[in-house]
Amino acid sequence: MRIGTIDIDRPVILAPMEDVTDRAFRQLCKRHGADIVYTEFISAEALRRGAEKSIRKLTVADHERPVAVQIFGSTVESMVEAAAIAETYEPDYLDINFGCPVKKVAGRGAGAALLQEPEKLSAIASAVARAVSIPVTAKTRIGWDHDSINIIEIVRRLEDSGMQAVAVHGRTRSDMYKGKADWSRIAEAKAACSIPVIANGDVWNADDAAAMFAATGADGIMIGRGSIGNPFIFAQSVSLVRQGVRLPDPSYRERIAAATEHMRLSVEYKGEKYGIVEMRRHYSTYLKGLPGVSKVRNLLVRELDPAVIVELLAGFEAHCEALEREGRLKESGGEFLNDHSPKLTLNY
Ligand SMILES: Cc1cc2nc3c(=O)[nH]c(=O)nc-3n(C[C@H](O)[C@H](O)[C@H](O)COP(=O)(O)O)c2cc1C
Repeated sequence: MRIGTIDIDRPVILAPMEDVTDRAFRQLCKRHGADIVYTEFISAEALRRGAEKSIRKLTVADHERPVAVQIFGSTVESMVEAAAIAETYEPDYLDINFGCPVKKVAGRGAGAALLQEPEKLSAIASAVARAVSIPVTAKTRIGWDHDSINIIEIVRRLEDSGMQAVAVHGRTRSDMYKGKADWSRIAEAKAACSIPVIANGDVWNADDAAAMFAATGADGIMIGRGSIGNPFIFAQSVSLVRQGVRLPDPSYRERIAAATEHMRLSVEYKGEKYGIVEMRRHYSTYLKGLPGVSKVRNLLVRELDPAVIVELLAGFEAHCEALEREGRLKESGGEFLNDHSPKLTLNY
């Protein structure tokens, strides 16, 4: 798949997720094999106003590359201005959000709302593509609702507007996250345009990743919720898709190590106070299914000192080791990874 100078065979990509794909999580996923990572979406209006929190989200590091910055907005003017600001932070490419279903975005004419205004969607896409010198891509859903599925028109418009790739989440806006993503609509979108198509929706393990490539004919795939607490999904998917090799599920040691690393990165990038607090909701997803997890989690979410958190996690590992020696560690054999209900509260 080619986007500008990026050229990767069947990339497995970390999807943009608000409150999840910050620098710490992106770096973790990168280390675990994600080919491309995306920032959280960033409001064009907020960038325009110079809102500090939004500006901070534009910061990307060289070790994350290739990395895309995603912006959303409802007017050509704000999106062009935001694109120019985002470009100065030197992401590898810029992505436009035409898929967000939540009220605070779609209710204000941005995100998925633009699926109902194809002319405006084209105007925003082409103006942004002209405004910057880095490649511009878009991410969208298959339509507003099941009576108005228009993904074929949309991908053709995006191609004509100069988008260099399009990511398609196989749900409508009205589906939110219900039901199953319709991969056949993604296949139709792929057949209807000649820019790279990135398939998205309901990849929970490496087998799903391989199945999604086969079912859609897409050039790349994008994983969102399936990576939360499970960055291992990237190396596993890449290995199965590109080499045909099935990697083993992560051991409890690897899962605890990933939680520890995530916490350290979170503190490094957000400072001790915010880094620790924001990490709290992640522990249960990393440790899901391990014996005694609720007890250690209760301690972890009350602790403020990163050194003590590292000790607690090391202690939990020792506890698992002891059970393993006694033959009493009932690992869930990877099943925890297929539990389709991440314990995170998802507001997006
Ligand atoms: C917590 C959360 C936050 C999200 N934030 C964004 C976002 O900022 N931009 C975006 O384009 N999609 C966002 N999404 C949608 C995901 O990128 C993805 O399209 C969706 O979760 C379907 O893929 P999955 O089944 O692999 O999770 C978000 C999804 C979740 C669950």
